[in-house]
Amino acid sequence: MEQQKKVFGLAALFDSPDSIIKAAKTVTDKGYKNFDVHTPYPVHGMDKAMKLPPSKLGYVTLTFGLTGAAIALLFMYWTMSVDYPMIIGGKPFFAFPAFIPVTFEVTVLLATLSTVIGMITFFFYYPDNSHPIHDTNYMKSVSIDKFGVCIEATDSKYNEEEISKLFADLGAKSTEIIYFAEKVDRKIFEPKFITLLIVTASIVSGVAYIHLNKILYLPPFDWMMEQSRVNVQSMSSFFNDNFGMRTPVKGTVARGFLPYEFAGVNEPSSPLANPFFPSKENLVLGEKKYNTFCSPCHGNFGDGDSRLNGQFPLPPSLHTTKAREWQDGNLYHIIVNGQNVMPSYASQLNIEERWAIVNYIRVLQRAKNASDADIQEIKKESVKNVSR
Ligand code: HEC
Repeated sequence: MEQQKKVFGLAALFDSPDSIIKAAKTVTDKGYKNFDVHTPYPVHGMDKAMKLPPSKLGYVTLTFGLTGAAIALLFMYWTMSVDYPMIIGGKPFFAFPAFIPVTFEVTVLLATLSTVIGMITFFFYYPDNSHPIHDTNYMKSVSIDKFGVCIEATDSKYNEEEISKLFADLGAKSTEIIYFAEKVDRKIFEPKFITLLIVTASIVSGVAYIHLNKILYLPPFDWMMEQSRVNVQSMSSFFNDNFGMRTPVKGTVARGFLPYEFAGVNEPSSPLANPFFPSKENLVLGEKKYNTFCSPCHGNFGDGDSRLNGQFPLPPSLHTTKAREWQDGNLYHIIVNGQNVMPSYASQLNIEERWAIVNYIRVLQRAKNASDADIQEIKKESVKNVSR
């Protein structure tokens, strides 16, 4: 029986790290290639003694990392600059800094995955749960306190007698011929086992899917998620132009939004009436909004003394007779519509804020053009305040 077994190699056990280093060095120097050393713990200097070159795994990592970077960059370049150029936040189409995070992620992803997969497949030749040296006295000894070297039969210089002599000269405590097991028992990779795994997984996931998606939604529950609708940005053959996304029909009014009826009109024939009473809160709001949106050009008090250092045409004063005699609706009209070079502020200010500004402009105008009666009123007020 023994003779029919295929030989894996010849192994020898040594007692000390020094003797195994010496053995490894000698075996290497004699020109043996297919051999390995087994020790209970990492032994310093072993790589050098065995003349092991540095691992080539790093090249796999580098290659796939660079590939990942190139793929990510090219993909983003193609989608963002060629196929569907879109301006995002005013950045150029090829916005390199913005592409860095994705490039980095894809680089790391491909580098790590290729390292692990490459290591297991090409460098380890898959996990082997039935290696010939498992279950030998040799393996039992080297995983406790002995140091072993095993020259494999595949080595071109393999010769049992010569190697036995070499081991003996090196001071080996014992040598052992290692055979391949007669019947390799690889349960995990058996086709039957894999088939069973796939069948079980399919049944379990199939049952789970049908249960979660069909049975749980039997009437009275129905498939609300399955509706005939057009996804955004997708085609629809329903319309002649094949666009799925439609522009609103002309004259559409958004809910809760009343369009300004004099939009685009030069001077409204009968301007809107001011619906807001100049309460204290309203005026505080108006002051805040006026100072934010109007004062850069019109000045803090409406004198037309812009802070823009001549970068924009100076507006007229808001204290002209024309401006003072205008109805509130005329001022409102200019805020919504703009006037010549002055742009519309409709999108920055809501309806209440616009009227609040109008009320505040009235305050500025009255302060600039106070009548005697106004001044008497103020005097009375301050006397009251002092005597209080
Ligand atoms: C970018 C500068 C700028 C800003 C900001 C600005 N305006 Fe003007 N505004 C002008 C200019 C310039 C004119 C004169 C336009 C013209 O030539 O008819 C003007 C004209 C006006 C007029 C008409 C004056 C007149 O006698 O014809 C009113 C009223 C007015 N602005 C109110 C406002 C209000 C209220 C705000 C804040 C919501 C505002 N403006 C913000 C530049 C500005």
